[in-house]
Amino acid sequence: MKVAVLGRGNVGGGLADLWERAGHEVTRIGREGGDVSDAKAVVVAVPGDAVADALDKVQGIEQKTVIDATNIWGGDPPAGYSSNAEFVKSRTNGPTAKSFNINFAALYDRISEPRSTPSNLWCGDEEARQVVEQLNQDAGYEPVYAGPLENAAVQENFLKLVIGINQGGMGQFFYRIAPPDQL
Ligand SMILES: NC(=O)c1ccc[n+]([C@@H]2O[C@H](COP(=O)([O-])OP(=O)(O)OC[C@H]3O[C@@H](n4cnc5c(N)ncnc54)[C@H](OP(=O)(O)O)[C@@H]3O)[C@@H](O)[C@H]2O)c1
Repeated sequence: MKVAVLGRGNVGGGLADLWERAGHEVTRIGREGGDVSDAKAVVVAVPGDAVADALDKVQGIEQKTVIDATNIWGGDPPAGYSSNAEFVKSRTNGPTAKSFNINFAALYDRISEPRSTPSNLWCGDEEARQVVEQLNQDAGYEPVYAGPLENAAVQENFLKLVIGINQGGMGQFFYRIAPPDQL
């Protein structure tokens, strides 16, 4: 699959590496922008407050299937939207999903360690299902459908619980990366 990733950092670069290993053709786009006309899927992996700017700099994104992986720290989604993902859809008018926002990029290299496949939530449009589920599986995750795009705000806020779990010392169990006899 041809995939364009906006953002070449921990998430964008890390997922691009995983997908290339799985045989996908990935175009990595930084803050200079670029053309995504060729891509079947576009993944947004820029800072949560830079989504509008990043979308402004790409051509050919209209009607595309987009997966928004962003989180918002200490701020709000763009005015008039309850989530970044719904804002993205308002700009592309294509199938949209929220995914990859509640797994830590630092663990991408350890996805294969647990005895059972780690799960990864996605919510969004049915028309995005095939693309999102394939890209989850090819990154090493078991995709778990979490409802329509209206749930994206809950999924974005869910990160607060994940951070709380980590700070409470249970992160290894949550991500099933504890020693095998403890899983
Ligand atoms: N880190 C995680 O574990 C994790 C997990 C899930 C979700 N997230 C979310 O995923 C997003 C990316 O996180 P990250 O850790 O990958 O961040 P990061 O390593 O800082 O990478 C961000 C990328 O976005 C680019 N960028 C910044 N401003 C931009 C703009 N205005 N237009 C286009 N591109 C721009 C940066 O380009 P430059 O290299 O030129 O600065 C960089 O390549 C964030 O929303 C974050 O909350 C992070």
